[in-house]
Amino acid sequence: MVLISGRGSNLRSIVAASRDGSLPAVVAGVVANRPDASGLAWAAAEGIATRVVDHRAFAERAVFDQALAEAIEGIAPGAPEAGLDRPWVVLAGFMRVLGTAFVERHAGRLVNIHPSLLPLYPGLHTHRRAIEDRALVHGATVHLVTPTLDHGPIVAQAIVPVLADDDEGALAARVLEQEHRLYPRALGWLVAGRVTLRDGRVLIDGGDLPAGRLVTDPRFEAGHVHRASA
Ligand code: GRF
Repeated sequence: MVLISGRGSNLRSIVAASRDGSLPAVVAGVVANRPDASGLAWAAAEGIATRVVDHRAFAERAVFDQALAEAIEGIAPGAPEAGLDRPWVVLAGFMRVLGTAFVERHAGRLVNIHPSLLPLYPGLHTHRRAIEDRALVHGATVHLVTPTLDHGPIVAQAIVPVLADDDEGALAARVLEQEHRLYPRALGWLVAGRVTLRDGRVLIDGGDLPAGRLVTDPRFEAGHVHRASA
């Protein structure tokens, strides 16, 4: 189950990976908190089940969260007694903070992608903040969701250079390109049961640093990034 708020480009990369077989999972449905999320129309046109739970219709977050959980279960009911696992809940540009009750209800199966190298820049405006800080590297993080916003165990990260002429849009686009490689790959490990936790740290196949856990922008691999040192 994928939750979105906007254009859904990560959703598209996840659906593409599911369809080409590189991600061993099916996207059962898409839920958006905004009826005008363009990713929702795309999903519907692709024949994927969609629901809207408009946050503006709920005065209290807990009630919104409950409606969201019901929408998810309406599409993908987990039924352990019938051998059906609880669905994975994949946040992909979902811009509402989820309360503790929702997070605990989906604990261990709730995943987010955040556009920064966490623990740097939790919250909003991550690209602008990286530029303002004159950071040399920036990126995105896939992490398990815990009640503290943008602080759950890190599954994988993508790294891109911050170039001298970057504005927010250019840097966001560079990060997004790598998000589209990163998220399906990380989800593949999760749905295949390859991820375990030890002391709040994610292990994949019981190990610390398997190849691919860091997705790097091709500019690094080709050695194209040159910056003068001070
Ligand atoms: C992505 O940058 C994601 O990391 C952030 O919001 C953006 C969503 O983009 N949380 P899209 O809707 O997947 O195109």
